Amino acid sequence: MATRRCVHTRSRVTSMHSIRRLFWILPAVLLLGRCGDAPIAPPSARPGPDLAASGLGLTNATDINPDPRVVEINLEARMGDWEISPGRRVRAMTYNGGVPGPLIEARVGDTLVVHFTNHLTEPTTIHWHGLRVPADMDGSPRSQQPVAPGGTFEYRFALPDAGLYWYHPHVDEARQMEVGLYGAIVVRSDDEPRADIERVIMLDDVTLGEDGQIAPPGDLLEIHSGRDGGLQVINGHIGTVLPMRAGQRQRWRVVNAGSARFYRLSLPGHRFTVIGTDGGALPAPRTVDDLLVVPGDRYDLLVDAVAPPSTRAMLTNLPYARGHGAGVFAAEDVLAVAYSADPALPFLAPFTGARAIEAIDSAGVTPSEVRMSEVVDESTQTIRFLINGAAWPDVPALHATVGHTEVWDVINESEMDHPIHLHGFFFQVLARNGVPEAARSWEDTANLRGHERLRIAFRPDDRPGMWMFHCHILEHVDHGMMADLMVDR
Ligand code: C2O
Ligand code: CU
Repeated sequence: MATRRCVHTRSRVTSMHSIRRLFWILPAVLLLGRCGDAPIAPPSARPGPDLAASGLGLTNATDINPDPRVVEINLEARMGDWEISPGRRVRAMTYNGGVPGPLIEARVGDTLVVHFTNHLTEPTTIHWHGLRVPADMDGSPRSQQPVAPGGTFEYRFALPDAGLYWYHPHVDEARQMEVGLYGAIVVRSDDEPRADIERVIMLDDVTLGEDGQIAPPGDLLEIHSGRDGGLQVINGHIGTVLPMRAGQRQRWRVVNAGSARFYRLSLPGHRFTVIGTDGGALPAPRTVDDLLVVPGDRYDLLVDAVAPPSTRAMLTNLPYARGHGAGVFAAEDVLAVAYSADPALPFLAPFTGARAIEAIDSAGVTPSEVRMSEVVDESTQTIRFLINGAAWPDVPALHATVGHTEVWDVINESEMDHPIHLHGFFFQVLARNGVPEAARSWEDTANLRGHERLRIAFRPDDRPGMWMFHCHILEHVDHGMMADLMVDR
């Protein structure tokens, strides 16, 4: 049977994985009868991996330093026109004129030097979300004076870990980020998983007012729930299309840069192989049909292009209720995936790579409590999001010591989800609601469902100083849900 032989030649491995895949491919092949007329490219014809093409609409940062181990860039915060869709421009705050800001790419061990100039009419800073920088490079209100209008600051630090990170201001976050200040950083190791192409996908949304401009921060309800904007802007654009070729393996590095929208992503007909999280590679890949990406969160995914040439698929945000009537209640289109007419490539073998993640030894450590709560006063139209009963900057600082394990019980006393983010250090989730977490990973952002309790552990390496942690729903940061962590030597 011709069709059958054809399918067979496409499949280079006979694991369960590839057999399962045939269930997707077989009906499509039969339907379209492509086998007869479309020869399958032999493996040697596979184009080499295209690592530089990670853009999908992103601009690459210009490295002005010839030293291959130093990435040195100029970064300016300035007002600009953000073209969210062809011909449709909104006033924005930009890094170097674009939204998102330039994609910074580097290798583990490189030094990153950023000559930052603030051309805005208000103060700002840059926080390097997830990067293990020294405390005085963290860009938080605890670690540096905001850069005044017309002012400059030089950020300089080493990049110790491979992964996807991002940068954004830590002043008036909900507004400065909503109007465009954010960008991505990719740090690669010498041992990256094989993929045909890599994409950085920055998820965001905006709400436009009647004047067609990004609406100013809203009312009590919007403060309370955070802004779920009406328009999906992926890598800064509405209606972004992601090109794919049948048989390809794409690597998607996803970050949720939105202020409050939760994304439960699914690509119908396809599966995601999760190979990494905030702090880099996982000990073992896990394959899922959908994936919750909360604000601030990152995922590293392999996506095998199992649909036939010339078809389309839609990356979809599935409904997810995040408490108090907030969330997404009907599936939303996020990003169109368009298959080219090119003949299918043979599939790559299932990914098996991994890195060991040692468990943090937390025996004998007394946990500290971090209680997250909210108070709404309808009569005065005020709302406070609290940590340990107080709003930042009045929350008593937590303390930790370099080299000593910290265990925190993070307790959500409210009805709504709150994604907690810790600056500077990766943690492991030990348990949720007392149930030990099955898989180990390094995180800097983890979601807490309403009334959920998370036990996390981390061990500060030698970067003493004042750090911060907070909910990454930016409206909640603005209204108090942030606190300080003093790390002493
Ligand atoms: Cu992206 Cu203080 O965080
Ligand atoms: Cu929150």
